[in-house]
Amino acid sequence: MTTACDRYAVIGHPVEHSRSPAIHAAFADQTGEHLTYDRLQAAPDAFVTTVDRFFAAGGCGLNVTLPFKAEAAAYADTLSARAARAGAVNTLARRDDGTIVGDNTDGIGLLRDLRDNLADVADARILVLGAGGAVRGVVPVLLEAQPAALCVANRTAEKAERIAEDFADLGPVSGHDLTRLSAGWDIVINAISAGLTGEMPDIPATVLDNATAAYDMIYADAPTPFLRWARDHGVERRRDGFGMLVEQAAESFNVWRGVYPRTAEVIAALRPGGERYRP
Ligand code: ATR
Repeated sequence: MTTACDRYAVIGHPVEHSRSPAIHAAFADQTGEHLTYDRLQAAPDAFVTTVDRFFAAGGCGLNVTLPFKAEAAAYADTLSARAARAGAVNTLARRDDGTIVGDNTDGIGLLRDLRDNLADVADARILVLGAGGAVRGVVPVLLEAQPAALCVANRTAEKAERIAEDFADLGPVSGHDLTRLSAGWDIVINAISAGLTGEMPDIPATVLDNATAAYDMIYADAPTPFLRWARDHGVERRRDGFGMLVEQAAESFNVWRGVYPRTAEVIAALRPGGERYRP
């Protein structure tokens, strides 16, 4: 007889404000799965020892958040194709034989939230602002959804160009700097991390028109600077990244439990700012 595996956690630094425990508790409740899901704080240099201890004590799965996603990819014994492609892992799962599999559910989380709640990705012209780790995770999945064009634009243009080179085999992707951008985008996605607290970087507002849909991978309990900027330039269709967080969690839940929870009701019930808040 095998022992039921039911211990999960999110590991990060910091991790105390993570919404993942509440999201997974809601999934467990909805699906009748019995599990615990905690927060696991690790010092920046203590990822490996903390994860070793967690799995040695019977833990069966982890979500991994900043700043450990690249370290988690190195930690895993094997990687899913999408995690290998991204070079980053947000989901670790312990198999029955004790080996650890790394997966990345961020890209599919974004894609599901975009498709279900904002705009069609197939044949769309998509502009992504930023070229950090988060963008590396989502670009391959966006390309698989066959957009007409995907442009990654970044303050440090070389990083955007590098992403375009790395994923060129998957579809029509290009890299640029933030300043000289063309108009006519169907979807503009913000992944510049300064967008959480700081002001909007100097991006030409001509990238937006009233047919554009704006998505911020960051979420908050009030409109983010990027979404305020989009609203001020006439963009009606706007959404923040809370839906992406719930969708990536649902995909992780499925990796661990083999059950796919319903997400819309969890997004509505748990969204920061309350059920009626619309970014
Ligand atoms: P994440 O994991 O969230 O992607 P990251 O890897 O640190 O975080 O990437 C942060 C992104 O925000 C980068 O694209 C960064 O641009 P650079 O590559 O030029 O550093 C971008 N960023 C952060 N602060 C910015 C600012 N004030 N103006 C423009 N871009 C900024």
